[in-house]
Amino acid sequence: MKIAVIGSGYVGLMQAAGLADVGYDVLCIDIDKGRVDRLKRGELPIYEPGLGELVTKHVGARLQFTADYADLKDTDLFFICVQTPQLEDGTCDTRYVEAALSDVGGTAKPGALAVIKSTVPPGTLERFKSALNRSDVRVAVNPEFLREGTSVNDFFHPYRTVVGVERHEDADLLREVYRFIDAPFLAMNIPSAQMVKYASNTMLALRLSYINEIANIAQATGGHIKDIEQAVGMDPRIGSDFLRSGAGFGGSCFPKDVLALHVAGVEAGYTARLIAPIIDINNDQPGKFIDQLHETIHLEKGQKIAVWGLAFNKGTDDVRQSPAIKIVRELLARGVHVVAHDPQAMQNAHRELEGATGTEHLRFVAHKEEALASAEALLVLTEWDEYIAADFDVVKEKLARPVIGDGKHSLNHWVLRKSGFNVVGIGL
Ligand code: NAD
Ligand code: UGA
Repeated sequence: MKIAVIGSGYVGLMQAAGLADVGYDVLCIDIDKGRVDRLKRGELPIYEPGLGELVTKHVGARLQFTADYADLKDTDLFFICVQTPQLEDGTCDTRYVEAALSDVGGTAKPGALAVIKSTVPPGTLERFKSALNRSDVRVAVNPEFLREGTSVNDFFHPYRTVVGVERHEDADLLREVYRFIDAPFLAMNIPSAQMVKYASNTMLALRLSYINEIANIAQATGGHIKDIEQAVGMDPRIGSDFLRSGAGFGGSCFPKDVLALHVAGVEAGYTARLIAPIIDINNDQPGKFIDQLHETIHLEKGQKIAVWGLAFNKGTDDVRQSPAIKIVRELLARGVHVVAHDPQAMQNAHRELEGATGTEHLRFVAHKEEALASAEALLVLTEWDEYIAADFDVVKEKLARPVIGDGKHSLNHWVLRKSGFNVVGIGL
């Protein structure tokens, strides 16, 4: 069977390299020619632990890259993995998927199956069929649940595989393709499979905004959110995953998918009441974090602040919707001087912050310790292992004041307080 993966981003590259690793011949296409050229040389355009090794192992053999749709004419199975960003009004922008399907329609052989892995809302199937414009090529969906930073493990060991199909034969084909996965395989109709993806992301985001609200109340009433999270999470009916509060969640998916679900409901005639506040709460968290910091050190123009962590999550170079970027942006706007470090995301952060007010006072440093000298506080905004395991005696020596802002609530506050640090965060 010949498989093509459309798009070589976080999802497409993992899908292509993973399928090649289990023995399929995979052709991965991207319209970004520069990206394709780099991939052909085995260079990864993104940082994702373990993915580079997989690409290097198979590139030029079972894994090929191209920028030319004509190369896809013998393909049996297409996986569409292109971006679905957010439009101004919160709607999911499906135009990249439609463009990809239109190109697939122009080249696919009769009987091929086009499987959409991109996150697309229910109610979009007819739009995709008309973009494909081929009655002899079928459409299915197969939502992706991987997390950036742990993609390789998530690809080989997902909690479940979900497919949305119009014919049983298409589910059978996909079950066969994924036979190397030891997890439940669930086939359903297409709107249900699309909704599983949105319901999952929104549930996780709901937990995060919920625990952040509890942190906000704890802040006002004298509780310690870390103790509260631990005790609440010990109830197996609740569980401790995705119950870590902080300065808000980020990433390319939760913020846009939650809003897109809300808007899809409104467009279909139902205005949900529980979904939009998830985003409102999240949008306010970085500002609340800065308020806490301000209460402790009275932020002033020209003051120096050290920042460790710019990526939205550890294990990735992705800064899309990263709370760290929002916090740095606000500090710079207030005239504060920021010296920042991240083991992987500095290039993307630099691009993201270009042109922001006050960027002349932003400096990136290659070693995390370089950020500290005479800073009024250290803000740890991504929970990279190297930050959690840092030598905080050295940190204390270098800082002007022993103040640590923990944006991810991932540090050991008890130990830090014992060593004389003032730990700042929401509900801490
Ligand atoms: P991305 O932006 O990293 O990559 C998309 C790639 O597709 C880009 O390289 C782009 O050049 C390419 N592309 C766009 N149009 C094309 C076309 N017509 N033909 C060929 N290539 C084309 O996106 P991503 O983060 O991988 O996300 C892809 C989709 O998967 C989105 O719908 C997203 O919501 C969903 N998703 C993402 C993640 C994640 O962790 N990033 C997880 C689950 C689901
Ligand atoms: C998320 C989902 O976890 C994936 O299942 C899904 O496939 C993906 O979105 C997607 O659709 O793209 P991702 O955004 O890569 O994955 O990373 P997460 O680990 O979910 O983290 C998202 C954000 O939530 C991060 O900013 C993280 O720091 C934050 N978070 C996570 C918390 O603030 N607290 C927690 O307890 C957990």
